[in-house]
Amino acid sequence: MKITVVGTGYVGLVTGACFAEVGHDVMCVDNDESKIAMLRRMEMPIYEIGLQELVERNVAGKRLHFTTSIEEGTDFAEVIFIAVGTPPGYRGEANLSYVEQVGRTVAEHMTSYRLLVEKSTVPVNTGMQLKRTITKYIEGGLDFDVASNPEFLREGTAIEDAFQPDRIVIGVESERAAKLLREVYDPIVKKSGCEFLVMNIASAELTKHASNSFLAMKISYINAVSRVCELAGADVEQVAHGMGLDSRIGQKFLNAGVGYGGSCFPKDVDAFIHLSDQLGYDFQLLKEVQRINQNQREHMLQKIKHELWVMQDKTIAILGLAFKPGTDDLRQAPSLYFVPQLIEARAKLKLWDPIASDNFKKLYPDLTYCDDILDCAKDADMVLILTEWPEVRDLDLKKLKKAMAVPVVMDGRNVFDPAEMHRLGFIYHSMGRP
Ligand code: UGA
Repeated sequence: MKITVVGTGYVGLVTGACFAEVGHDVMCVDNDESKIAMLRRMEMPIYEIGLQELVERNVAGKRLHFTTSIEEGTDFAEVIFIAVGTPPGYRGEANLSYVEQVGRTVAEHMTSYRLLVEKSTVPVNTGMQLKRTITKYIEGGLDFDVASNPEFLREGTAIEDAFQPDRIVIGVESERAAKLLREVYDPIVKKSGCEFLVMNIASAELTKHASNSFLAMKISYINAVSRVCELAGADVEQVAHGMGLDSRIGQKFLNAGVGYGGSCFPKDVDAFIHLSDQLGYDFQLLKEVQRINQNQREHMLQKIKHELWVMQDKTIAILGLAFKPGTDDLRQAPSLYFVPQLIEARAKLKLWDPIASDNFKKLYPDLTYCDDILDCAKDADMVLILTEWPEVRDLDLKKLKKAMAVPVVMDGRNVFDPAEMHRLGFIYHSMGRP
């Protein structure tokens, strides 16, 4: 089956490559010429585990093509996925100008039936607006459909998630659109055995908002519990484990720490609050979720200040810059909160990250970057853990202690066992643990 995917970011490129891998013929479109030039040279514009091999294999198999021309993409396939960016506007609402632009260009160039599928996370009623846009620009009363197919991929495990989804959700208005999308997903549904849910467009759009905001709420909930644990002398890891064994709660997304980041949760919670507001509902619960998340970072900063007392000229080794392991993505990463604060306090910073350092260098070219964790920790007055990379988990703690000037570890991701750290002679602070 022929499929066009517009947008070659984290969602679009992974989706396009995965569709090709299951046997479809896929055209990926992006108006950023440099991105398409990179892809044609087999260079990935983003880091995602397994993506390079997937793209290479499917380009070689002639199932994956790249173009900057949306006109070519419109001609290529009946089904067109829209996976362009929806960055936050100044009041937290999603900026839909790229989605609108794609709708308009497709409408102006299509010569027969097309199905436009929103994959970007968009507010409820975007489907309806997209339909209005297409109707406005389409020539000669051609038939078309819009559909919603929200994405549930996580960065770092996106390819695995695409082939083994928990569910596929589509929102449609016609049997024709449902049939086409069933055909698109048939190989994945057959292989993974996942549920294929068909609903109306607004419900599909809301499923995405409600899911991401619920996960963010779960994280903020455990972070709030972690604060009470600190006051009560309890251990949040043990509490979370005890809670998570209840199958109604589950173990996942109960890791306390310096809060959630990334391109999705902060933006999506914001957008959900905003759209609820517009619809007439004041979503106080989600406002509190945001507040708790921000407060976790401030709380850790207070702990750092308290531990160091005078920050000026103290050497702090920061382990982890990416918003989570397995990605080079810095969007809303805790590092972007701590680094400027620590620079302002005139601490000396040494930074380590296995993948995200190059992106960070573009923002802070003059800081000291290390390839090796122990070099980074050498002569440091404090190690601050912001991303739980496997390399951090596997650290030789005796070597770490030896390398540091003063063995103080501030663990923003609860990577190590407090009892073990104290036994080894570290001054160790984490989140929500005695
Ligand atoms: C998230 C969702 O998990 C995906 O289902 C969704 O498709 C995606 O957003 C999206 O909307 O595109 P992602 O942002 O890639 O995926 O990453 P997550 O693994 O969900 O982590 C998000 C943040 O929460 C990270 O900063 C992570 O460190 C933090 N987190 C996660 C915690 O602080 N505690 C936890 O227990 C889990």
